[in-house]
Amino acid sequence: MKLILMGPPGAGKGTQARRIAESYGVPQLSTGDMLRAAVKAGTEVGQKAKAAMESGGLVTDEIVVGIIADRIGEADCGKGFILDGFPRTVAQAKALDAMLAERGLQIDHVIDIAADTEALVARITGRSTCAGCGEGYHAVHKKPAVAGVCDKCGGNLTTRADDNEETVRNRLSVYHQQTAPVMDHYRDGGKFRTVDGMLPMDTVYAQLCAILG
Ligand code: AP5
Repeated sequence: MKLILMGPPGAGKGTQARRIAESYGVPQLSTGDMLRAAVKAGTEVGQKAKAAMESGGLVTDEIVVGIIADRIGEADCGKGFILDGFPRTVAQAKALDAMLAERGLQIDHVIDIAADTEALVARITGRSTCAGCGEGYHAVHKKPAVAGVCDKCGGNLTTRADDNEETVRNRLSVYHQQTAPVMDHYRDGGKFRTVDGMLPMDTVYAQLCAILG
């Protein structure tokens, strides 16, 4: 299964990608997670990506295409993968087409998780993530049983540096300008679907599973 999950910041791409990855046994490839790990580790890629991420802008196509090209060549992607947050520009989508064609592969599903802008701001500014296992939480929609502690692994919950309101609004504006046009790249291929990301998380998940089969 080779799946692209699209949608604006906070639509639920990461939440749903983690669930699908667990149930379908394919890895979640989140460019955001990979870039945050690079920033934390202080690698060359991390140093180049840091300023763009902090402002809510996009990291260069060259960097993210390089990351994905390396990652989809790894053994655990043999059965498929879920792209979460990539491609985010039309140039990235074209580069993905080329790297898949080189390997004789193609995308099976492109699913856009659509959501209302003001709800997204509330979602993102209420979000926390487990530093241990990456599980996502929300101050209203998905509270942990014990404040600040992950239900799954007992790890500490952290908040992202780019989850303040000003940066979130910039991320949303960048999404509308640069990422929304990527949907047109996929719309004609018969593989593009939209699900309503304003529905409860379990309902969104059920709709995704119905598409994936
Ligand atoms: P990235 O990490 O990809 O962030 P994003 O796209 O802004 O998306 P988010 O992770 O904020 O949201 P999500 O859709 O995953 O929502 P989530 O499931 O967490 O990218 C970060 C940065 O890295 C970018 O700004 C850019 O700088 C750089 N970058 C990354 N990829 C790049 C690329 N390809 N090219 C260039 N630059 C790149 O859910 C959000 C919250 O809502 C959670 O609290 C969750 O519990 C809750 N929630 C989820 N679903 C529901 C629901 N149905 N109902 C109620 N609450 C819900």
